[in-house]
Amino acid sequence: MSEPVRLMRPYMTFEDVEEDFRAVFSSGQFTRGAHVDAFVKDIKHYTGAEHAFLATSATTALWVALKCLGIVAGDEVAVADFSFPATANVVEDLGAIPVFVDVDLDTFNMSPADLAAKITPKIKAVIFVDALGNPTGLHEIQAVCRQHGIPLIEDAACAIGSTERGVRCGGIADITCFSFHPRKLLNTGEGGAITTNRADWADWLRVKLMHGADGMRGLCLDFIDYGYNFRLPELQAIMGRKQLTQLDAIVANRNAVRQAYVEQLAPIGFMPQRIGDDVLHNVQSLVFRVPKNLDRNALVHYLKTKEIETTLGTYCQSGTTYFSKKYADVQPRAMQLEATTITVPCYEGVPVTRVCDEIIRFAQSPGRAKTPSNG
Ligand SMILES: Cc1ncc(COP(=O)(O)O)c(C=O)c1O
Repeated sequence: MSEPVRLMRPYMTFEDVEEDFRAVFSSGQFTRGAHVDAFVKDIKHYTGAEHAFLATSATTALWVALKCLGIVAGDEVAVADFSFPATANVVEDLGAIPVFVDVDLDTFNMSPADLAAKITPKIKAVIFVDALGNPTGLHEIQAVCRQHGIPLIEDAACAIGSTERGVRCGGIADITCFSFHPRKLLNTGEGGAITTNRADWADWLRVKLMHGADGMRGLCLDFIDYGYNFRLPELQAIMGRKQLTQLDAIVANRNAVRQAYVEQLAPIGFMPQRIGDDVLHNVQSLVFRVPKNLDRNALVHYLKTKEIETTLGTYCQSGTTYFSKKYADVQPRAMQLEATTITVPCYEGVPVTRVCDEIIRFAQSPGRAKTPSNG
């Protein structure tokens, strides 16, 4: 029996971090130490952003970004609809109203035309999502935002290492949020980061992310404001730093794996997410649209019986039970993508031909074609 094929595999071993971990245990400096400082510098250097801050996740990073922009209850925030629901959840949590913007069926990213049609004076920010790590169209959305004077938040949870027009994610939008969850290319267990080029926002973040303290008042911290703690500890910073040095090589390899899948699956009509000519996609997730005549759910189940882990692309946020009940504004293209996309395992050493052969076997076996009754 061949090995099970997992959807994602960590790019790091314990041995990679063991020495530095031991040093942290010896020193007792588990937080706010040299590794955290160095990781922040590394992120700035890598993304080209002027300011960077660490966070416990992309969710907390996005929440803080909205607070930083002054989003309050009753404001509207335009949100790319094809995303993990954390994107809209943070808007909702602040009492603001997510205005779901439909996506392009090929790139899976926010449609500039739909955004332009939905902009009103009530929209106080736009959240562009690099769907599955793909920043295609980010600069175009930025132009729409600039034209209307609306700040642009980039939900780059999946996009560390991706570029558009030669600029890395993190150095493009007004404020960018990353995730370091284990499904992401840079995995710190849980974790995240915020980058911005705005000095005033960086000042706000520096104080707020330090419980509201700014320097010292005698022996004490000087709490000039109230604030929060979403800090990433030293051990996580060690993991992040190690992987950042390998990221470009990992991205190059994932693109080679992607190409092999694209070539093998094209003959049966599997359409990969479209990547712009001026984009380097980190291929955080490799997602295809399944041809109309095939049942995506049945395919995922079939592959599971062959010990190949796959899943849907991502979610139509406006179609979740919560958001569809509350706003009744389901976006049709995002919903179509939720229902018809598949994420396949993509990393160095993945048995591409074995996975593709099973997909092709499924597609070509009699009785697999959808009937009206099976959707
Ligand atoms: C686009 C997007 N935004 C936000 C998140 C939330 O990230 P985290 O798990 O770091 O909070 C995810 C997680 O998958 C995501 O894919």
